[in-house]
Amino acid sequence: MSGKLLVLEGTDASGKSTQFERLCAFLDERGISYRRLVFPRYQEESSALIRMYLGGQFGEHPDDVSAYTASTFFAVDRYASYQTEWKDYYENGGLVLADRYTTSNAVHQASKLEEEEQKAFLDWLFDFEYRIMGIPAPDDVYFLDMPTEAVHDLLEHRQGKTQDIHEQDMEYLKHCYQTASKLADTFGWHRIRCTQDGRIRTIEDISAELTAAVLRAIP
Ligand SMILES: Nc1ncnc2c1ncn2[C@@H]1O[C@H](COP(=O)(O)OP(=O)(O)O)[C@@H](O)[C@H]1O
Ligand SMILES: [Mg+2]
Repeated sequence: MSGKLLVLEGTDASGKSTQFERLCAFLDERGISYRRLVFPRYQEESSALIRMYLGGQFGEHPDDVSAYTASTFFAVDRYASYQTEWKDYYENGGLVLADRYTTSNAVHQASKLEEEEQKAFLDWLFDFEYRIMGIPAPDDVYFLDMPTEAVHDLLEHRQGKTQDIHEQDMEYLKHCYQTASKLADTFGWHRIRCTQDGRIRTIEDISAELTAAVLRAIP
């Protein structure tokens, strides 16, 4: 019996890590068992190519590496994680929560392509990760809908972290947001609006909506 895979998605600095922490703490308090995954796994060997790419070793701009090529870097890290960390647990019916997943390739890499090229890319991507590599497709995706103007402020205030080639490029981030918003509609992702009347909602407010949605999805 396969388990359940729930994915938290959003553009850079949309609050994923913040909300993921809170969600996990909430499930811990309730005594709900789950496995927790955070992608990319920067500490692991399987992320070597991701670090080279985001560190600018293949070019200073996201566009210097094609959507297809860059996607393979992130996909192999997920494959390694699945094989070594959660395959058995998931196959035995376990609940798995992921901060980013294949959906991040969909958002960040499809954004490099023209609109008319995106469908072929997404078909290729989902076939590559879910069928050829054999990692599970998510049951539900929760999209933190934080418009780029709001993210700009959050990124500026983020302390102690150097920005990678994605985060440095505001135009690219804007494009990623538009792509994410479109994909959320196309694939039926659960959209959580993080702003209201042009203002960012509080962390607690967003968290309440997310945890309620996740609770409805788990038995
Ligand atoms: N709703 C919010 N209101 C104010 N600040 C927030 C909110 N959500 C996140 N932040 C702050 O924005 C920054 C980016 O959040 P983070 O969770 O690291 O995003 P991500 O994991 O998506 O990159 C952090 O400094 C975080 O504390
Ligand atoms: Mg994060």
